Amino acid sequence: MGINKDLFITFEGIEGSGKSTQIKLLANFIKTKIRKKVYLTREPGGTKISEKIRKLVINDLHSKSNSLTELFLLFAARAEHYDLIKDKLNKGYIVLCDRYVDSTIAYQHYNGNIKLEVINYIQKLIDKDQKPNLTFLLDINPSLGKERISKRSKKKDRFDKEPVNRMNKIRSAFKKIALLNKNRIVLISNHLPKAVVQANIQKELLRFINK
Ligand code: TYD
Repeated sequence: MGINKDLFITFEGIEGSGKSTQIKLLANFIKTKIRKKVYLTREPGGTKISEKIRKLVINDLHSKSNSLTELFLLFAARAEHYDLIKDKLNKGYIVLCDRYVDSTIAYQHYNGNIKLEVINYIQKLIDKDQKPNLTFLLDINPSLGKERISKRSKKKDRFDKEPVNRMNKIRSAFKKIALLNKNRIVLISNHLPKAVVQANIQKELLRFINK
């Protein structure tokens, strides 16, 4: 399949929305069926330094931490990471990223106290307004998301301890962001079986590629 456009694809959604599972399945589909090179990455993280910053954001800063400290750490991680993403796109990879700027808008703006202009301004310094080409927003009822998190064996980080009402707020924020970016963001319900959800994602990806 000939793909002549950059494909920087992001996955967004609340904790427990199933992003990590679905992104891996999509990476496999792209490799085996579309036969393109895939680069799978995540935020915060993705490079050596950015993964170190991830540890700071996720474990060492607690809810009482300064929201600007958190914002700057997240953007510091992204500035590093974006260079890598650009490089991979230039080399012909399809880049799949677990969380990106929409998470910053949902968490730090809608659920935090950071002005949208501030986020947009810093983001533009990093990516010169090169938005992801396509974003899948995995939507899930927070109670179900929480249930999935509690089944995970790994140590819970501070975000995973969010109460359901906060997750509901973030879910609504993501939906608002999706409405404002209809041409880029595809909302995918994750209340269905894993394979059905993946089939929906694949269908949307093929639709985008063939557009
Ligand atoms: P992670 O354990 O990766 O959560 P998940 O598996 O659900 O993606 O933790 C990432 C956390 O970082 C998540 O709770 C959202 C948060 N985050 C922000 O608050 N702002 C951001 O810009 C990004 C990228 C993530």
